[in-house]
Amino acid sequence: MRLPVSDCTDATEMVADGTVPCRWDYRKTISRRAALAAIAFPRRPKETLVAKDKTPKNAGNGKTQMHKTMNPISENIRGAMVELLQAHLGTAIDITYQTKQAHWNVKGMNFIAVHELFDDLHDLTEGYVDDIAERLTAIGGQAHGTVQASVQNSLLDAYPLDLVKSEDHLRRLTESYAKWSAAVEKGIEEASEAGDPLTEDLLTGIGRGLDKSIYFMESHFQG
Ligand SMILES: [Fe+2]
Repeated sequence: MRLPVSDCTDATEMVADGTVPCRWDYRKTISRRAALAAIAFPRRPKETLVAKDKTPKNAGNGKTQMHKTMNPISENIRGAMVELLQAHLGTAIDITYQTKQAHWNVKGMNFIAVHELFDDLHDLTEGYVDDIAERLTAIGGQAHGTVQASVQNSLLDAYPLDLVKSEDHLRRLTESYAKWSAAVEKGIEEASEAGDPLTEDLLTGIGRGLDKSIYFMESHFQG
């Protein structure tokens, strides 16, 4: 059955009454099977090249499951440090794959050097992921280490998916590292004030590593 454009409704109604969906060319007659297939497997809207920006979520939602432990740090401090570390765990996982995104997609001058630099930086961030997660669990927390949880907990903005040139990746990735480094610095103060020198020490080491990574990337476009 053919419909004038003005009579078009949505595909579900049209299949139900045997008419032709108008979002397809209404001059064609399509089979009921094809119409049903289109409803079951609708075309996805074209995806944007930049992942959706999201509001960074800080630590402190107080929802992390805690376990009994013989760790001598008081429960209050452990709870606060677990929430702090949860945000840094999400951020570490996020930056690990931001770095791989750059490693996989970079093109242009100095390709091999930059491609390999990103891989070396990725290895460092993977180490941070493990160190943070294991400190978090050592003080009785439950690590939220899945990609989905990391999306919720990361302190970073989404990394663009369409970057290609080496300088663009270097500049954008440096921004992410710098943002995390600033958050780590704040975390060091929080751990110090809370009275958890070992978490403070962990974050200090990570902060030192991040600053070195920033230097390695930034040197490509400084001066
Ligand atoms: Fe690789």
